[in-house]
Amino acid sequence: MAAVVERFGGAGALRVRETAPPRPGRGQVVVRVAAASINPIDVRRRAGYGRKLFGLMGAARLPLVLGNDFAGTVCAVGPGVTAWREGDAVFGAKPPSRHGSHASHVTVDARHVLAQPARVTPVQLATLPYNFLTVCRALDGAGLTRASAPGRQVLVHGGSGGLGMIAIALLKQLGAHVTTTAGEHGLAACRAAGADLVLDRRLLPLEALPRRFAATLNFAHWHDDAALVARLAPDALGHATTVHPLLAQIDRYGLAGGALAALAGKRRGAAGVPRGARYAWTVFRPDDGALDWLAEYAVARKVAPTLQAFRMGEVAAAHVHVEERRLGRAVLLPNNF
Ligand SMILES: NC(=O)c1ccc[n+]([C@@H]2O[C@H](COP(=O)([O-])OP(=O)(O)OC[C@H]3O[C@@H](n4cnc5c(N)ncnc54)[C@H](OP(=O)(O)O)[C@@H]3O)[C@@H](O)[C@H]2O)c1
Repeated sequence: MAAVVERFGGAGALRVRETAPPRPGRGQVVVRVAAASINPIDVRRRAGYGRKLFGLMGAARLPLVLGNDFAGTVCAVGPGVTAWREGDAVFGAKPPSRHGSHASHVTVDARHVLAQPARVTPVQLATLPYNFLTVCRALDGAGLTRASAPGRQVLVHGGSGGLGMIAIALLKQLGAHVTTTAGEHGLAACRAAGADLVLDRRLLPLEALPRRFAATLNFAHWHDDAALVARLAPDALGHATTVHPLLAQIDRYGLAGGALAALAGKRRGAAGVPRGARYAWTVFRPDDGALDWLAEYAVARKVAPTLQAFRMGEVAAAHVHVEERRLGRAVLLPNNF
């Protein structure tokens, strides 16, 4: 059973369909999915966003099953896999494909699977990997490491979102001083996540902040990118954004034209960072080092976002929930009808 996009469009285009049980290939396992998050990228991909670039990975061909995160139980093990057995409780994230985790069963590379820690539910775990691994890529892109981050001033734009909350918690774990922006409804959550200074973005424009940050992270809006870069100190580490226009430009101008437009935009952005600082447009990828960090983080997880669970038959309502930015990270329960 899977939540299937049969044509690009609104949430009404989703259909729950019977699907053949997947069989694991070499190095793969099949996971019976107890919970899978629905993220902003899923609702945008459902409407066709990124279809040209994702198409190169075979991840935009219809019918399409969305979803990167999964938490559940291993139910089949492919040749060459020694780390997992049937019945193991696991979680993780898979790279974009057309066979995502919004399904009763998902096939994943065994390298992208982690053991579920005790005392954390599958629903809680399902909201973690995709966002966590994306945040790790952003920290790396901005030059923030265990060695460089302690004591440094970091500005997180969009702290109240899925990425922002994890970034705040990770940066505090690394010993950075975190300033974050949020809308009115996200201020308390950012404080709870450990931010040192929480700014209401309606009351204080980015341009009013001092140019003293070692790193800036943009999880909110591309239009603010230049203003964030301008907040970097002369000896800054760097800036990273997850809200760059790469996919949209390729959708609009085609692969070659979009790549050129993106390159030009990236050059303009990079021209604004101080000499020696990094400038990165980051994309989600399950890197090995970040997966190890995720395993540690999940055990000690302190920040639990508000969650909103949806049964498989409610998948369209779950997409609307994410689209309309209602309170609570959306989690799909694919084996619960
Ligand atoms: N490049 C990648 O591979 C990748 C991976 C994951 C996510 N993303 C993108 O990264 C962004 C953040 O993801 P998420 O899951 O954290 O999304 P999210 O939960 O929807 O959070 C978005 C954050 O941005 C803020 N925000 C939204 N619109 C804004 C605006 N116009 N001006 C200022 N702040 C604004 C929101 O504040 P309020 O809540 O107060 O509105 C919230 O803090 C999304 O756009 C997502 O598509 C990219």
